[in-house]
Amino acid sequence: KGDKVTQGDPNGSVGSRLLHSFYQFFPRSLSPYLPGPLSLPLLGNMLELAHDHLPSHLTSLARRYGNIYRLKCGNTTMVVLNSGDVIREALVKKWSDFAGRPHSYTGDVVSGGGRSISLGDYSEEWRVHRRLAHNALQRCSQQSLHGVIQKQALHLRQVLLDYNGRAADLSEDFTVAASNVITTLAFGKEYEKSSSELQRLHGCLNEIVSLWGSPWISALDSFPLLRKLPNPPFSRLLKEVDRRDEIIRTHLDDKTSEDAIAITGALLNGLGKRQDTTQGVVLTDTHVHMAAVDLLIGGTETTAAWLSWTVAFLLHRPEVQCRVYDELCTVLDGRYPQYSDRYRLPVLCALISEVLRLRPVAPLAVPHRAIRDSSIAGYFIPKNTVIIPNLFGAHHDPAVWTDPYAFKPERFLEGGGASTRALLPFGGGARLCLGEAVAKMELFLFTAYLLRDFQFVPAESQASLPDLTGVASVVLKAKAYTVIARPRPTMP
Ligand code: HEM
Repeated sequence: KGDKVTQGDPNGSVGSRLLHSFYQFFPRSLSPYLPGPLSLPLLGNMLELAHDHLPSHLTSLARRYGNIYRLKCGNTTMVVLNSGDVIREALVKKWSDFAGRPHSYTGDVVSGGGRSISLGDYSEEWRVHRRLAHNALQRCSQQSLHGVIQKQALHLRQVLLDYNGRAADLSEDFTVAASNVITTLAFGKEYEKSSSELQRLHGCLNEIVSLWGSPWISALDSFPLLRKLPNPPFSRLLKEVDRRDEIIRTHLDDKTSEDAIAITGALLNGLGKRQDTTQGVVLTDTHVHMAAVDLLIGGTETTAAWLSWTVAFLLHRPEVQCRVYDELCTVLDGRYPQYSDRYRLPVLCALISEVLRLRPVAPLAVPHRAIRDSSIAGYFIPKNTVIIPNLFGAHHDPAVWTDPYAFKPERFLEGGGASTRALLPFGGGARLCLGEAVAKMELFLFTAYLLRDFQFVPAESQASLPDLTGVASVVLKAKAYTVIARPRPTMP
């Protein structure tokens, strides 16, 4: 019964064996055990997956089929997990069963043949790669991250002051601030918004993420015959990947990456020389290269999107902004915050948690793959099933959250009834977001600096309040909006 394969299977090991026999003779899509919408011949449930706001659509399907259901896409069976309990069971409790990533033709193209941390499958080589990048980031967080973020927060303050009270779309300024934190850590470099080098880097990373998510390209994974036909979006993807690789190579070769501050850069470079003799794992230049890509892609749009969401929600409830400002003034007595101040700033922390809950910026995490037969919530899950952790769904589960769609940071304050332990914005287990510690420090310091120095007010009237539905791709972003950043009289 303790056996991983049968764990959680209400039929025990005999039942599991029977189920194995069943699957030998019947297509898995006909399994009576996992509910899900009707799957069409050939198309499967592709139409469900083509939805505009996929996280929200998958959440509405959970109301009909329950917190765990299956979808078919070509030959692939996907299992969508929609509550904290089932997500934790798969990602944390049974992490070793579900730590894989799905193999795909196009995934290999964008990840240097599966040698990135985010898309690489679970293997000894991947573990060594991730461990070294994790250690590098951790050391860097302890030594210089605080100063790097503070510098970017003060720079962002100046950029907002330069708007002179004009309404502006701040999303690009947030992207530059978040990106500069990562490029400083990875390459010892930072950029102005107008820098052509930065525009080129962002342009091609965004293009890769959006092309890779497009149906023209994902169709190549489900229907291999299409690979023989001309496919202009795929040709563009190949070109952008070449462009990305050239930019990263130039940065990694650049002498400034030897700067004391570019600790991650130096350690990433060290990866190339690293050999884990016990396991015979050798990491190559491609691993170094792909780790830099991982940090840039994972660490830029996520943090920037979160900042845009925070300002958008605050415009809808200005009294929350006043409360955070009052707390900052009272507790800090005029000085700028340190990360260690977070324990004394519960209102600010509640705001951060509530925005992470309502808009987990990686709403469907990254798909996982069952690396062996296992089970979730008592359902048999065969090897190679793709697992989609719907973090957005878990954060809107009415069984856990009162009034789940309302923006109420006070729910996380004492007596508010909600616990941050129920949040899963960074996933969990072996695939927990590699940049969680970096992101948490960034969210805290950027928000504290911004709300200490500025009052955010709607561009014109209440009618111009930002739309809160957002645009969902790999990252869940707010729709473009403008806002006025009015300097506080207490600004130094
Ligand atoms: C993976 C969330 C910021 C680097 C992930 C995953 C989530 C996530 C949900 C997928 C976990 C899974 O597959 O189960 C977030 C959020 C962020 C954030 C909400 C900010 C608000 C960052 C930053 C970095 C980063 C700043 C880099 C410094 C990565 C990497 C992975 C990842 C490399 C892949 C990990 C793996 O596959 O082992 N992130 N992230 N993220 N994140 Fe983040």
